[in-house]
Amino acid sequence: MKKIFSILRVLGLVALAVILAEMTLETGEESVFSTYPVLWLILLIVLMIAVAIEISVYSLHTILYRSLTPDARARYDNAIAIKKQKQFHWWKRKYRELLDRKPIEAEDEIILDHSYDGIRELDNNLPPWWLYGFYASIIFAFGYMIKYHILDGTSQKEEYLVEVAEAKEAVEEYKKNAKGLLTANTVELLTEEADIEAGKATFAANCVACHKVDAGGGIGPNLTDSYWILGGGIKNVFNTITEGGRPGKGMVSWKADLKPDEIAQVASYVLSLHGTTPADPKEPEGKLYIDPDARVEEVEVEMQDSTSVEIKMGYDE
Ligand code: HEC
Repeated sequence: MKKIFSILRVLGLVALAVILAEMTLETGEESVFSTYPVLWLILLIVLMIAVAIEISVYSLHTILYRSLTPDARARYDNAIAIKKQKQFHWWKRKYRELLDRKPIEAEDEIILDHSYDGIRELDNNLPPWWLYGFYASIIFAFGYMIKYHILDGTSQKEEYLVEVAEAKEAVEEYKKNAKGLLTANTVELLTEEADIEAGKATFAANCVACHKVDAGGGIGPNLTDSYWILGGGIKNVFNTITEGGRPGKGMVSWKADLKPDEIAQVASYVLSLHGTTPADPKEPEGKLYIDPDARVEEVEVEMQDSTSVEIKMGYDE
């Protein structure tokens, strides 16, 4: 028993030292021990001092005990025995009180007089520990009701919405800084004014030499028509700008110069020019591109002869 207490005391002291160090030294998220490795040494010294104190106290105690006369020794042992008996006395009593259990010998005082096939019932009191918990929950319920239903405490739903909004912001922030997160597969057409403006600036700085200011085409093809050599739509255009055109044609890969989000902006800007009329447009090159996701406005089916029909689809632009 004594040994256990000694060990607990030593551990308690070391734990106290750790808590004190964590609380007094400012190191942010990091543990103080990784910031100041020297603290390990101090902790070791604390441990050694605590062990030393325990050992000295123990030896002192033993020496004093041995120096007692047999008579005094007996009295001392007696006093300790009584103290041990009284130890935890209060706790034991409280425990019994909280259970409020009738001893088996006294059960006939509370047995009810009905019997179902020999099964009888005791009329025990409700255990006080349970009853107190019940009262506490009633008091808590009042507090809860006042806070959340009368005053306007944040409800679970509001808390949820706030957290979702915060998380969305964090994701946006992450996306802004994470290079390479956007790929041709995940990119979406940007429509916000700020993105288009940023795309326009990127275009003016890098692309006008070959595609002209109005994207009517020069060395590079006209980007305003519906014909695309390398495919239209945000995903293809993003891919073309990222990876470059066919070898030797002059359209280089821009991934070393532009960040993925800048490419998405300039690609969106290019697509926003679709249908505009440049001053001196180049002839369409490539194939007519139809967005696979475009809404089909009208479908016309024409009978050619008895074995074939022609289907004409009008796309919503
Ligand atoms: C050095 C001249 C040059 C520059 C600078 C240039 N391009 Fe090009 N671009 C071309 C050429 C040439 C092609 C045709 C590539 C091919 O035929 O494979 C092309 C093709 C394209 C296409 C595909 C067109 C299609 O029909 O499929 C897009 C989109 C495009 N460029 C966008 C841009 C953007 C955006 C920039 C600026 C970041 C840019 N280009 C800078 C020369 C250039």
